[in-house]
Amino acid sequence: MSNYLPLWPDPASTMAGQVDALYIYLLLVSGLMTALIFLAVAVLAIKYRRVPGRDAHQIEGSTILEVSWSVIPFFIMLTFFIWGAVIFFEERTPPADATEVYVVAKQWMWKIEHIEGQHEINELHVPTGQNIKLIMTSQDVIHSFYIPAFRLKQDVLPGRYTTLWFKATKPGRYHLFCAEYCGTMHSGMGGDIVVMEPQDYALWMAGGASNPLPETGKALFASLGCSTCHRSDVQGEGRGPDLAGVYNKPVKLEDGRTVIADENYVRESILDPTAKIVSGFKPVMPTFQGIVNDDQLNALVAYIKSLAQSSSGQPSQGTAGLENQPTTPAGQPQNVQVQ
Ligand code: CUA
Repeated sequence: MSNYLPLWPDPASTMAGQVDALYIYLLLVSGLMTALIFLAVAVLAIKYRRVPGRDAHQIEGSTILEVSWSVIPFFIMLTFFIWGAVIFFEERTPPADATEVYVVAKQWMWKIEHIEGQHEINELHVPTGQNIKLIMTSQDVIHSFYIPAFRLKQDVLPGRYTTLWFKATKPGRYHLFCAEYCGTMHSGMGGDIVVMEPQDYALWMAGGASNPLPETGKALFASLGCSTCHRSDVQGEGRGPDLAGVYNKPVKLEDGRTVIADENYVRESILDPTAKIVSGFKPVMPTFQGIVNDDQLNALVAYIKSLAQSSSGQPSQGTAGLENQPTTPAGQPQNVQVQ
């Protein structure tokens, strides 16, 4: 349809068709309502125009009329809400098998970190037919990750993670925009989503790979001294909780609450360790605010997630699954161009 009706960009994700359908439905219902109202105005204006000898007289209310013109539009409008909510929840719920990609926004660029170690600036390469989950944060102010061809937009906030997921359907190069005013160069804060056939993507992945993100995190975990307290070898005797298998599981806190150890929990525990003390432990961990940057935080989060995946025996994106991947010979072209 959009081929000959250039009202919006070609749809290129599984979600795009649904968003377009809802959009068309909104336009049709709104157009129909507008037409009915103007028609009624015109018809009544003509029918009850001033005619010599005809007297106006007061009409008292009609309950049936009042109720029907309130209740019927109410249910029609409610379909907007229900349909919108269905799409909203689908967009907000990444599938469990999604490949994770970390995004760090800063004035004025997008930094992309693939779990396999590739880094990109203002470009994101993805294969068709695969669920991709973006885990996004900002180094400075609020930005917004917007891909019109995918019909997707999500604010990217400093100090926490927001997520977005999609499945691209058509190879091509699609615009990425920042959709939140973020300073002088906001309008230039764009890039490209490069969607490739899976075999082309595999080739791209094989060239220029660097250390997988969980491996980078593992090295940091050791060099920052995390591993001296968070130990897996002493059966709960470490000064901090054993982190194997923690990710995405409920954690009982000292104050009686139970929280899910998601990405934001792990992040907060690194930057503000006393915010949520795990039951049975003392608030002895120092903050790593100002010591680790967002890229390092992502690596640590990816590492802790990989621990959960390898301990539960699931197919892993983490260290367990990456050991057999080919390592890159030195001198391969890197995908990073700092602009
Ligand atoms: Cu970043 Cu606007």
